[in-house]
Amino acid sequence: MTTNSILEKLKTLQPIRSIYRGGGSASNLGRSLTIFNNFFLHVLPVKVRRKSIDFGATLYLGYVSFVLFGVLVITGILLMLYYRPAVPHAYHDMKDLTFVVSSGAFLRNMHRWSAHLMVVVVFLHMLRVFFAGAYKPPREFNWVIGTLLLIMTLLLSYTGYLLPWDQLAYWAVNVGANMVNATPFMGPKLKFVLLGGHGIGENALVRFYVLHCVIIPIFAVIAIGVHFWRVRKDGGIRPLFGPDSDKVESEANQKEGD
Ligand code: HEM
Repeated sequence: MTTNSILEKLKTLQPIRSIYRGGGSASNLGRSLTIFNNFFLHVLPVKVRRKSIDFGATLYLGYVSFVLFGVLVITGILLMLYYRPAVPHAYHDMKDLTFVVSSGAFLRNMHRWSAHLMVVVVFLHMLRVFFAGAYKPPREFNWVIGTLLLIMTLLLSYTGYLLPWDQLAYWAVNVGANMVNATPFMGPKLKFVLLGGHGIGENALVRFYVLHCVIIPIFAVIAIGVHFWRVRKDGGIRPLFGPDSDKVESEANQKEGD
């Protein structure tokens, strides 16, 4: 029995068919059903233009941002196993992680470098979108979601900065908190809410930890989901190079209508 025939046989079994619905057929309808009926695939469009998946269309910057976010979530969860967000422990836990835990320095650097890289790549992705004119209708709502994602990326960087509880972290967060303090009308109140008090201490560390590990990532995951869904709903990618795809599409639709 060949591997192919075993796979074919498996596909006919009821339990497998209940998971792998509508698949197996090489027809356009069969392929569409596979995408529609699969929880993980349904977010993808049934058809994509070859041009829009070329490297030159997006420079893959959006996808790279997403991969970096994934790396940060995985390495972040692993870091949580070694780190305690309390003033007597935080600094020593980071030192232990770097010098005692095996591969700890690698893990920490993976998280740190991915975070720096994500800020750069998300910014470049925004430039790509801008120069492709993909902020214009019908994609203007996705531009707004993207702006929120940029803000969240920066906030994740900022809140992560305090966690090592070293001098660099302490004073950098001091500068940030004083900037918040300068917000018109409600500056001091905002600073108080952010730090959980008047100075940077135990409360601030716990607040930054919860913001960094729970609150902002949850909002980011939701926003990324909506972002991908909008790319699909707004007619797919608008490539950076090549003809204006929206025009090509609408001309093709017009011809079909003639
Ligand atoms: C966490 C950050 C982000 C992730 C993971 C992300 C991911 C993606 C992906 C995978 C795509 C489709 C492929 C591509 O264009 O590369 C996309 C498209 C898009 N993104 Fe983002 N993005 C992020 C941030 C942003 C930002 C900061 C903006 C702008 C302010 C933005 C605006 C858009 C728009 C308008 C599209 C549609 C582009 C088109 O139709 O050609 N995104 N994004």
